[in-house]
Amino acid sequence: MRTPLVAGNWKMHGSRASNRALLDAVLAGIETLAGIECAVCVPYPYLGEVAGRLAKTRLAWGAQNLSEHLQGAFTGEVSAPMLAEFGCRYVLVGHSERRQLYGETDAVVAAKFAAVLAHGMTPVLCLGETLEERDAGRTEQVVGRQLAAVLGLNEKNAFKKAVVAYEPVWAIGTGRTASPEQAQAVHAFLRSGVFPETRIIYGGSVKPGNAATIFAMPDVDGGLIGGASLVAGDFTAIARAAQRKG
Ligand code: 13P
Repeated sequence: MRTPLVAGNWKMHGSRASNRALLDAVLAGIETLAGIECAVCVPYPYLGEVAGRLAKTRLAWGAQNLSEHLQGAFTGEVSAPMLAEFGCRYVLVGHSERRQLYGETDAVVAAKFAAVLAHGMTPVLCLGETLEERDAGRTEQVVGRQLAAVLGLNEKNAFKKAVVAYEPVWAIGTGRTASPEQAQAVHAFLRSGVFPETRIIYGGSVKPGNAATIFAMPDVDGGLIGGASLVAGDFTAIARAAQRKG
């Protein structure tokens, strides 16, 4: 049985004060939930404080990106060993905003994935197609290529531990979600390339009002939550929807 995972991606949001309030409210909201895992992926500067607040709680934490290099003259970058030192359980790799706005290629994403695993953390491999690619009937080709690049550089067994996040680009921050059937179709396709036990979560405008129907799909093992992860009541309502599945 796959334990559902609900992970928040705060993106470039937060402040030390607002983070404290948000985490306190999320912790209170998920206190009684059982059988699911919850996590927040926060901006780098907050990792120390977040790790201190969340240690020994049931909310895990992680980062949204990392360098594929381990150390050296890479101004502005953050390495996997640094993130491991802050107790990160999860690290997002290949988020569509990284691919689209910062030019991350499939090869770079594969190297980042390897760096996360090599340092004992769990990569959350984000992949998904643009609207243009979907309309052209190329969804499986695109997500298949994104997955194959990572499989090419990493042992397939890596996916026993890693998480895959299907995030159709056209559904991110747009209020337009994939239908449960659309999500299920892509998740089932992705599962054929990984393992029955690999968690494949869905991201893209997941809200309290649509989470339950998406999570009800057999190959949807939770969600990667952007905007709604910044609102404690929304995030915890989404976590409750995942719990009903678990
Ligand atoms: P939204 O939930 O804001 O659409 O963002 C999804 C996402 O990109 C999570 O990584």
